[in-house]
Amino acid sequence: MIPPSSRLRPLQVAVLALLAISALVLATAIRNGRPTFPTTALPHPPADTPADRASTLGPAAAAPRPDTRPAFTPPSAASLPDTAFGKTVRQGEQIFLHTPQNAPQFAGNNLNCSSCHLDAGRRPDAAPMWAAYVMYPAYRAKNGHVNTLAERLQGCFRFSMNGKPPAADDPVLVALQTYMFWLADKAPTGVPLKGHGYPKLAAPPQKADYLRGSQVYARNCAVCHGDEGQGQKNGEHWVFPALWGPDSFNWGAGMHQLKNAAGFIKANMPLGRGGLLSDQEAWDVAYFMNAHERPQDPRYTESVAKTRAKYHDSEDSLYGLEINGHLLGSEAPPSGGRLAQGTGR
Ligand code: HEC
Ligand code: HEC
Repeated sequence: MIPPSSRLRPLQVAVLALLAISALVLATAIRNGRPTFPTTALPHPPADTPADRASTLGPAAAAPRPDTRPAFTPPSAASLPDTAFGKTVRQGEQIFLHTPQNAPQFAGNNLNCSSCHLDAGRRPDAAPMWAAYVMYPAYRAKNGHVNTLAERLQGCFRFSMNGKPPAADDPVLVALQTYMFWLADKAPTGVPLKGHGYPKLAAPPQKADYLRGSQVYARNCAVCHGDEGQGQKNGEHWVFPALWGPDSFNWGAGMHQLKNAAGFIKANMPLGRGGLLSDQEAWDVAYFMNAHERPQDPRYTESVAKTRAKYHDSEDSLYGLEINGHLLGSEAPPSGGRLAQGTGR
C-alpha cells in the first residue's frame, strides 16, 4: 500500500520549481483577470434532451450555451476504505499515475494515463475519470459499435500508450475500472457532468498555422517538453512527457486529433497556467505539435494514403498530409514502442 505522501513525486517537485520561476507571469495573468482554469461556458445542450448523449461524444454543438451540466466532486483520498476493495482502488490509481512501471507489459511509451488526464484523472476539463465512468457503455464512431468501459480502456493502451491492450478481465483493467468506479461514487449515470472530456473550442478565427504554432511552442512549451518535443528525463526518471517522436502517443490516439489537442492545451497547458493561451494560440500550437512524426497508427493498412482514407479522412487529422515538405506517417517509428522492439521490461 502506498501512503498519500508518495503522490508528491519528483516530477511534481520539478513542476513546482518551474512554476515558482513563472510566478511573475502568473501574477500578471491574474492581474489581467485571467483565471487559472477557463470558466467559459461550454457549448452543451441541456442534460435532459435525448440528443445530449450523442452530442457529447460527437462534434461540438454549433452555438455556445450556458453550461447547465450538473457539477460533481469525486471523493477525497482520505475517504477510501481500508478494505480489499480499497486496495484495488489504490492499485488502479497507481497504474493510472505510473503506467509504464505498474503495467509494463501493456505500455509502449513513457506516458502515464495522468499525463493527459491530470491530477490522477480528477481534474475537470482534462477528461476526468469520474465523468467518463458514468458514460459507458457508449457507441463510438471510431470503431462503429457500442464499447464497454473495458474496451474503451483497451483503446487507451493501444493508441495513447502506444502499447498492447490488456484482456478485458486482466487485473490491470479491473483495477483501473475499480478506481474509476470509486471516483464516480454517487454521480448520476448517463449524465454528462460539468468538466467532462476536454473543452470543445470554437473553430479558430484564422486557419491554424505551423509557423505561428512553432512560435507559441518556443515561448510556452519548449522549456518543459524540449525543443524537439522529446520531453525531459532526470536520469532514468521521466519528468516531462514527449509530445511527438518515438516515445509519444501514436497516430491512432485521440490526442493526435486537432480538436482534442487544442481543447486539452487551452484548458491545461502550460501546466498550472491553463487558460493562458488564446483559442488561436491553442489551435496553432496543437497544429504544430501534431504536424510532427509519431509512432505509426497500429491500424495501418498497405500505405499511408490508404490508411488516411480509411481512418483519417477528416480535417481533424494531419496524418497522410504533406506539411513542411514531409508526408506525415511516411517515416513513423513502428507502433508498439519498446514492446515492439522487445526491450520492454
Ligand atoms: C496522450 C494523451 C493520453 C493518454 C496518455 C491517455 N489518454 Fe485517455 N484520452 C485521451 C484523449 C485525447 C481522449 C479523448 C479521446 C476522444 O474523444 O477520441 C481520452 C479519453 C479517455 C477516456 C474516455 C473519456 C470519456 O469521457 O469518454 C478514458 C476512460 C480514458 N481516456 C482513460 C485513459 C487511461 C486509463 C489511460 C492510461 C492507460 C489513458 N486514458 C491515457 C488522451 C490520453
Ligand atoms: C511547466 C512545465 C510545462 C509546460 C511549460 C508545458 N507543459 Fe505540457 N505537460 C507538462 C507535464 C508535467 C505534463 C504531464 C502532466 C502530469 O503528469 O501531471 C504535460 C502534459 C502535456 C500533454 C499531454 C501528454 C503528452 O506528452 O502528450 C500535452 C499534449 C502537452 N503537455 C502540451 C503542452 C503544450 C502545447 C505546451 C505549451 C503551450 C505545454 N504542454 C507546456 C508540463 C508542461
